Amino acid sequence: MTRPTLQQSHGPAYTRIYALGAARGENAVPNEELIGPINSSDEWIQQRTGIITRARAGAEVSALDLATEAAKEAIERSGVAPELIDLVIVATISNVQQTPSMAAVVADRVGANPAAAYDSNAACAGYAYAVAQADALIRTGGAHYALVIGAEKLSDVVDPTDRSISFLLGDGAGAAVIGPSDTPGIARTVWGSDGSKAAAVGMNGTLVEFRDGTAEWPTLRQEGQTVFRWAVWDMAKVAKQALDAAGVTGADLAAFIPHQANMRIIDEFAKQLKLPDSVVIARDIATTGNTSAASIPLATHRLLEEHPELSGGLALQIGFGAGLVFGAQVVVLP
Ligand SMILES: CC(C)(COP(=O)(O)OP(=O)(O)OC[C@H]1O[C@@H](n2cnc3c(N)ncnc32)[C@H](O)[C@@H]1OP(=O)(O)O)[C@@H](O)C(=O)NCCC(=O)NCCS
Repeated sequence: MTRPTLQQSHGPAYTRIYALGAARGENAVPNEELIGPINSSDEWIQQRTGIITRARAGAEVSALDLATEAAKEAIERSGVAPELIDLVIVATISNVQQTPSMAAVVADRVGANPAAAYDSNAACAGYAYAVAQADALIRTGGAHYALVIGAEKLSDVVDPTDRSISFLLGDGAGAAVIGPSDTPGIARTVWGSDGSKAAAVGMNGTLVEFRDGTAEWPTLRQEGQTVFRWAVWDMAKVAKQALDAAGVTGADLAAFIPHQANMRIIDEFAKQLKLPDSVVIARDIATTGNTSAASIPLATHRLLEEHPELSGGLALQIGFGAGLVFGAQVVVLP
C-alpha cells in the first residue's frame, strides 16, 4: 500500500514590519510621587536609571485597552485590511486573567476575528520573541499578515514599598503589523533563556499562595545588580550575534532600540557595540519607564515620530528580562 504524501506549506521568502502603533498610560507619574515609601529621591532615580517620569494608566484602563488602541493605529497605518490579519500575538506578563488570552479579544475588537490568536510570556523579550514567531509563521505559510503587540499594565503588579523595581515600571502597549516583503525586512532572531537565574527577576509569590493567605498580592521584584551585570555583559554579546546573523555591522544601523530597562544599561550597550554617532539610540525610558514587552515597540514608535528620516533604515532591537530570557534581531524600520 502506498502512503499518501503530505503537503507542507511555505509562504513568501521575506517579511517586514509594515507599521507601528502606540498607546501609553495617560498619567505621567514623576519620581517625587514614588520616593516616600521607598526612602529614595528624584536625584537617585534619575542618576541610577535615567527615569524622570513614567507613563501609568488610570484604574479604568486595562492592558487590553492599551493593546487595542495600539493595534488599531498600527493596522490603520499599515494599510492592511483588518480582516486579512490571520495571526495575533500579544506578548505580555500582566494579563489579569489566566485565560482567555488578551490576543483573542484584541483580534475580535480590531476586526481580525477569526485570526489565530494567543498570548506569549517572554517578559521584556516578549516583543522580540513575537516578531520572531510572526516572521517564521508567515514565511512557512502559517499566516499571511500578523499583528504583534507588546502590552503591559505593570502598575497592577507593583508594590509601592518595594525598592528593587517598583519605581522603574510603567504602562503601555506597542503594536506592529507584519507581512510579506519583496526584500528581507526581519533578520534571524538570536534568542534564548537561562532558567538557572529565574529568581533574579519575577513575581514574589504565586496566586495559590495569595488565595491561601500565605502571601500578599504577587508583585514584581528583582536582584538589580544581578540583572544589571547580566544585561551589560551577556546581552552586549547577544546584540553582536544579532548583527552577525543579519550580516551587518553597527555602522550599518540607523537606530539601536534596546529594551528600556535602565539608561545606564543603554549607554553601556552603545559603548560596547562601538556604535558610531550616526546611530540614533532609543531613550524612551526617560518619560515612559520600563514597560516590559511594550518597551521596544513604544520606543520605536517614538523614534519614528521624532526622526521620520529613519524610516527604511536598519534597527537593532534587543529585549531581555525575567526568565531569564533574551531575543534580538535587526529589522528594517517601517
Ligand atoms: C535597580 C537598579 C536601578 C539599582 O541600581 P544599583 O546602582 O544597582 O543600586 P544598588 O542595588 O547597587 O544600590 C546602591 C545603593 O542605592 C541604595 N538603593 C537601592 N535601591 C534604592 C532606591 N530605590 N532608592 C534609593 N536608594 C536605593 C542601596 O541601598 C545602596 O546604598 P548603599 O550604597 O548605601 O549601600 C539597577 O540595578 C538596575 O537597573 N538593574 C537592572 C534592571 C533591569 O535591567 N531589569 C531588567 C528586567 S525588566
